[in-house]
Amino acid sequence: MKFFLDTANVEQIKRINDLGLCDGVTTNPSLINKEGRDFKEVVTEIASIVDGPISAEVTSYTYDEMVKQAREIAKWAENIVVKIPMTEEGLKAINTLSKEGIKTNCTLIFSVSQGLMAAKAGASYISPFIGRIDDMGEDGVELIYKLKQVLENYGLESEIIAASIRTNKHLEEAALAGSDIATIPGTLFEKMWTHPLTSQGIENFKKDWDSFVKRKK
Ligand code: E4P
Repeated sequence: MKFFLDTANVEQIKRINDLGLCDGVTTNPSLINKEGRDFKEVVTEIASIVDGPISAEVTSYTYDEMVKQAREIAKWAENIVVKIPMTEEGLKAINTLSKEGIKTNCTLIFSVSQGLMAAKAGASYISPFIGRIDDMGEDGVELIYKLKQVLENYGLESEIIAASIRTNKHLEEAALAGSDIATIPGTLFEKMWTHPLTSQGIENFKKDWDSFVKRKK
């Protein structure tokens, strides 16, 4: 499973990238807004740090405007993927852009039919939002299982990005469901590598080692 970072925070990205755990980055208008920096400036900086796909989302919603903006965003760096929302206009834009060789990530996917349509239109990535589905009282991870099966059934090449991941459990279940990628908030990464028994184990080993060293003196 590839790990993408779901953030526009450069410090978080550098920290995880230094661990060799950052295979790509996804951003969205809310994450860009949170950083308060210029859109192009922050995306190009991220693209220069991470050697992997960097998703940057269009902020327009008509076909003509989305295609125009996507062509512009795609020029910012070689590893840019343009995020396009799952609408009729979005599907049309994905179809046009894929024929031009511009990679797209179809975002805001909440059903199998939406994912299937995005894949057929030529999206390089599809992003089902599992946390937001759970918020509605439904099972977000189930959508990953279903999409994985459907894409396999028809030999469709889009990669599944499990998005809107909120917990360690989401990540683990998305991995079990065979999601190609999980896009993980920077703050969640830390919770993934820590475990109370690991910390307690280290404390005990330290204590025992200190007592061993003292006895040897
Ligand atoms: C990533 O591509 C999505 O924009 C992101 O995961 C959405 O997460 P949220 O539902 O926590 O805002």
